[in-house]
Amino acid sequence: MNILAIETSCDETSAAIYGDDGLLANEIASQLIHQKYGGVVPELASRAHVRNIMPIIDAALTKASISKETISAIAVTYGPGLVGSILVGLNFAKALALAWNKPLIGINHIEGHLFSNFVNAKFPEEPFITLIVSGGHTLLVRVNAPGQYQIMGTTKDDAAGEAFDKVAKMLNLGYPGGPIIDKISQRADASYLRLSKPKMDNKFDFSFSGIKTAVLYFIKKLAPEELEKHRADIAASFQSTAVNFLIDRSFSLVDEIGLKILSVVGGVACNSLLRKRLAERALSENVRVLVPPPLLCTDNAAMIARAGYFKYQKGNFSPLSISPDPSLAL
Ligand SMILES: Nc1ncnc2c1ncn2[C@@H]1O[C@H](COP(=O)(O)OP(=O)(O)OP(=O)(O)O)[C@@H](O)[C@H]1O
Ligand SMILES: [Mg+2]
Repeated sequence: MNILAIETSCDETSAAIYGDDGLLANEIASQLIHQKYGGVVPELASRAHVRNIMPIIDAALTKASISKETISAIAVTYGPGLVGSILVGLNFAKALALAWNKPLIGINHIEGHLFSNFVNAKFPEEPFITLIVSGGHTLLVRVNAPGQYQIMGTTKDDAAGEAFDKVAKMLNLGYPGGPIIDKISQRADASYLRLSKPKMDNKFDFSFSGIKTAVLYFIKKLAPEELEKHRADIAASFQSTAVNFLIDRSFSLVDEIGLKILSVVGGVACNSLLRKRLAERALSENVRVLVPPPLLCTDNAAMIARAGYFKYQKGNFSPLSISPDPSLAL
């Protein structure tokens, strides 16, 4: 059984094939055009998806060395994300399903991220906690089984990735800011700026706007030459506070519920400090921490194919009338 998956929810056009023999292809076309605008321009993203989608699907089929006859179903992201971007992938998937006479499986992009840790590993048989940290989401989820989710905490304002990108913008570092902050923080002083973590009513919720605003006020008061000198130190201070916040909440939830597995997924899971601190805490607290390889943290169709594989086994198909849902929740 082979699932062909398509992912176009934001600015990555991706096609993947996952089946009984594991991941056979995961082709990704990233759109660099958005860098000069400092963020994703929806109209440009849709146009780039239209240009990229056919070649990327061809590339995935070629890489996997399989023909369309051996595809069992087409899985595709139908939300959340940019409606104009989702429409390109979703309509293409519908056309393929119709032309090839294969079932269609609509996938929630966030559930896709959740499955990204199980592209190369087995889905745990016991319940576990997942921290989903991406550009648009920061969620702590108790996973009882595939498809059975209980949201334990969420962000009350910005998502973690969004905060990384906004702080990078304040510091004139370019877009996307997360990877740049990660890189320049490596040899910087993270104790330069003291930022306090917000207090929340629910101890498993998150908030990043207060930390971000504290950075903004600090920058505004700084002389230009001081900003020039300490740009990386400010970035590192923000990164360290954000990472500690994410880790503390996740481990206190794992500890309180008494589960032994913490899965961390989404673009921010690429962050090297987060990965380092997770490994340290895993060791000291005897918790199994799962983090995907960086290519499976940011948007990719492999995770959509993996989620599609699970839904195919359950016979969970979608009608051809399925529409994009830009604010689809987990
Ligand atoms: N090394 C890194 N350190 C910190 N943040 C990072 C790093 N690499 C990527 N990111 C952040 O990850 C985010 C992108 O992740 P992802 O592709 O999962 O998000 P998205 O698809 O835009 O949002 P969502 O999945 O919530 O719809 C960006 O905000 C980016 O800055
Ligand atoms: Mg994503």
